[in-house]
Formats: sequence, structure tokens, C-alpha cells
Amino acid sequence: LYSGVISELLLSWYDDNARVMPWRVGPAERAAGQRPDPYRIWLSEVMLQQTTVAAVRDYFVKFTTLWPTVRDLAAAEDAEVMGAWAGLGYYARARNLLKCARAVVADHGGAFPTSRDGLLTLPGIGPYTASAIAAIAYDEAATVVDGNVERVMARLHDVHTPLPAAKPELTALATEHTPVERAGDYAQSVMDLGATICTPRNPACGICPLRDPCAARIAGTAPDLPRKTPK
Ligand code: ADE
Repeated sequence: LYSGVISELLLSWYDDNARVMPWRVGPAERAAGQRPDPYRIWLSEVMLQQTTVAAVRDYFVKFTTLWPTVRDLAAAEDAEVMGAWAGLGYYARARNLLKCARAVVADHGGAFPTSRDGLLTLPGIGPYTASAIAAIAYDEAATVVDGNVERVMARLHDVHTPLPAAKPELTALATEHTPVERAGDYAQSVMDLGATICTPRNPACGICPLRDPCAARIAGTAPDLPRKTPK
């Protein structure tokens, strides 16, 4: 049941409201033929797991200044990388980062695989990260589902099933809305919407690009969704 209406609303909104981040390629650079670098997208997505955009920003700039390519990172000393990571937390991510960088160099000639399936063969790259890199770096029509996407889908379709039971349903809805073109911008538009407008508390429904089709806004349930099974 694919309808392009939702992705069109999101992409138009994103064209005017995309947050500027050091790993993103803006419209002007895009027009000049620049493409997102899979190394930079991978690095940003690993850093953004369990860490906010605000906290990641400076670390991302530090890492890409010290190690501009995956080859540079793969050749770094473990201690140097662990030291640069200090403060970001969840140190297993830094160890996995090095393992993955070294696999890209040893097994793929220093170039990231160019499909979601290929990316999934790398150590430390799971379904979320593989989809994010495939969509953002290669515009593969892969669906990226994180907490933001689950919240936006639960509200758009007024899904009252509590998490985590609702996950398959919300993933299916996110997949139905994923466009064939601009899949990377679409993925990032849902994340930005979830971070800035469709927020967990006090969602700004009045200025939301999805206010007209949003079933939860119409029902008045947006602030209560997604529901969660009590622990
Ligand atoms: N959170 C995780 N990945 C993100 C991205 N590419 N843009 C915005 N927020 C994110």
C-alpha cells in the first residue's frame, strides 16, 4: 500500500528545514555533484547510537580530522582511538569501530560495500546501521527504524499497540512510506521530524508537515503515543 504522499510532504519539509550536521551533504554541495561519504556516514551513525547529535558533533569533527579516511582509522593505534573516544561512552562501540575499519581495509580494499546486504557482512554493522548507510550514502531504498521513526509512525497511523510488541507493525508502516528516490533524505527527514517537531513530549503538531494526514493529531492522541508496556 505504498503512497508517495507522506514522503513528498516530508521531503519538501526537509528541503527547507534539514538540520546542518558535519556529515551531511547540503543541497548546494549536492548540486555540485558531491555525494555523502560512506565512511563519514558510518562513523556518524555508530557515534549516534545511544548519544545525542549535540554530543556527537565535536567528536565527529575530531575523528575525521585525525583520520580522514577509513584507511587512516584502520591504521591507528588502538589506544589512540580509545583515547579520542573518551567521553562518548559505551566503549565497545570504539572497539567495534576499529574492527570494522580494519575489515573494510583487509577484506574490501578500503572501500565500504555498496549495498545494505554487503554492509551487513561487516563486523559491528547490524540492520539499523546497514540500512542507514545504504540509504544515506547510496540512496538505496532501505528503511531506517529508530525510536524517532517508531514514534512518528505510531502517531501518523494512531497505533495503540504498546512497544515493544508494536515494532513489527511500525517497521512495516515505515517501509510502506519509504520512497524509491531520495531514500537517504527521507530517512533523515523522519529523524529530524522526530527530534524537532514530533517530539516525545509536547509535539508541535501545529507546524508539522504531516498534520493533515496524521491520525493521532486528528484523534488527539499524539502526546500519548507510542504506548509502552510497563517494565
Ligand atoms: N540519528 C541517527 N542518525 C541520524 C541522522 N543521520 N540524522 C539525524 N539524527 C540521527
